[in-house]
This record gives sequence, structure tokens and C-alpha cells, in this order.
Amino acid sequence: MSKPYVFLTRKLPDDIVNILETECVVSMWGKEETPPPTSRLEEECKNADAVFCNVSDTIDASMLDQAKQLKVIATMAVGYNNIDVKAAKDRNIRVAHTPDVLSETTADLTFTLLMATARRIPEGIDVIRNNEWGAWAPFFLTGKDIHHARLGVIGMGRIGELVAKRGIGFDMDIVYHNRSRKPETEKAIGARYVDMDELLKTSDYICVQTPYTEETHHLINRQAFQKMKNSAIFINTSRGAIVDENALYEALKNGEIQGAGLDVFENEPIRADHPLMSLASVTALPHIGSASKQTRWKMAEMTANHILQGLRGEKIDHEVQL
Ligand code: DGY
Repeated sequence: MSKPYVFLTRKLPDDIVNILETECVVSMWGKEETPPPTSRLEEECKNADAVFCNVSDTIDASMLDQAKQLKVIATMAVGYNNIDVKAAKDRNIRVAHTPDVLSETTADLTFTLLMATARRIPEGIDVIRNNEWGAWAPFFLTGKDIHHARLGVIGMGRIGELVAKRGIGFDMDIVYHNRSRKPETEKAIGARYVDMDELLKTSDYICVQTPYTEETHHLINRQAFQKMKNSAIFINTSRGAIVDENALYEALKNGEIQGAGLDVFENEPIRADHPLMSLASVTALPHIGSASKQTRWKMAEMTANHILQGLRGEKIDHEVQL
């Protein structure tokens, strides 16, 4: 019997490719930072038994209609909003993702963004790079205290919990809002459940950690920003489209909130001329929440193994369930 055919949408290290080559014929897009054009992905999907993809590859129903051989789509990410999972299930295609393994790393980055925005780190770096450092000045680059401030976490999943845990180390007062209450988390880290309005109105720092779904599309909109304190700092490391970026821009420009730390954007990649990049109060990163070497290796290995499990017809460790 011939080996199954797997398409990888990015260039990956040999050690990862080797895992797949033990049982499959592998075709790999040659670039690491540029995705294949949609036409190539479409073509590959027509013949592939499995696809190894990531957050920036859109796999929709029309692509799946032509993917007659496809059995497994494995994404190297926890979020899978780029894949039409229902359409895949309807066609008996299994979808896998990489939860948990990246939670600590993503929480680290979330807190990094929070601190960098609060203490105006990018502005400080620019001052030195631009040779603009004068004498010590009493109120030069003064930011906002993190310790003893209130941290509001929207979406108390695994990453939300780990962000809150980091806040405890800074003596922060933790409040959260979630679809359901999490009594164990409340007990373990002393977080307090509040309704969305109270969270928005009273938090000094607001971190969104929900998955992106139809319900969370533009969850943080103009009304939400208007409820926030003028001194609030907003952090997003989940998905860009959870936030109405125009509303965020207006809120920052009009001083309705103080700052924003963003690792994700509605349409990625953004460019230097994106309106949010014109604001000094924005700390922006290029979607690197899970980007530590250790975590990315684990994610890649898991994804390769999910493909093998799926192609063998075995239980997939992390199959997306609807
Ligand atoms: C994810 O895993 O969903 C991140 O956004 C990419 O690491």
C-alpha cells in the first residue's frame, strides 16, 4: 500500500519532518515566514491525506469540498478559528490542535505585554535609540503601577488562569468574567467572579483570553471601551477580531483608556502604517504569544504526532470536538 501524502504549509526543521517521513510522503512549502498562496493550498488539499497547518492558513468549506482524500487537518496552534471545523467533521475529516502545551508560555507573554505597556518600555527603548535621553527628570516616562492594581481577566480558561496566577505574584486584585464560574480557580488563586460591566468599569488592567468565535467577534467594542477607566490598560494575546480595532484606536486617541498591549490583530500581518502603530500608547508584537523555542518545538512535534495518529485511525491526543 502506498504511503499517505502529507502537506506542510511551512518550512519546518528536519527533526519534525522525519517524524512524518517514517510513515508518510511529505511535501513541504519551502518558506518559513510566508504562507503558500491559497491556490497552492487548495491544490495540495485535493491530493493530501493530511495537512499540517497553522493560524494563518484558512481552510474553509469550499476548499474541503475538493479535498476528497483528506483525513486529518492538524494545526500547530491552540486556536482553530481559521479552520471550518464543522465542514471538516461533515466530511469525516478530523481536526487536531495543540492546547495546554503553550499555556504557560502564552501567559508569560501576556504578562510581558502588560508590564511593557504599563511601564512604557518601548518608548524608553526608543528614547535611547534616538539619542533623546536628557538628564534624569522627575516625571520622565512615568508609567502605571502594576503591584496592588486590579487585573480583570475575560475568559478564565487555562491561559486566563495562568495570567491571573502571575498577577498574584504582583499582589494584584484579580477579578474575572467567564461563561461559567470557576469555583476551583476562585479558591486556588483568590480570583473573584464579577459581571462584565463591573470588570470593565473597575479593572486597571484588562486581559482578554477567550477563543475567537461568532459570539466573541468584536466582544470588546466601543461601548466596552467607554466603560473602562481612563487609566485602564487593555491587553490582547488571543485573537485580533475579538476587538473592534477602530473602537480601540478611538478609545486610545481620545484618552478613554491609557494604553494597549497587542500581540494579535484582526488582519495579520499588520504594517507600520496601521493606525494603531501611530500611537505611543500601543505596545505591538507580531503574534508571538507561544514563541519560545521549547514550546514551538513541542507544538510542532505534537502536530506531527496528531497526523500520524489520525492517519493510523487511532485516537488523536487533542482532537477538536464540536
Ligand atoms: C495559537 O496557538 O492559537 C496561537 O495564537 C499561536 O501560537
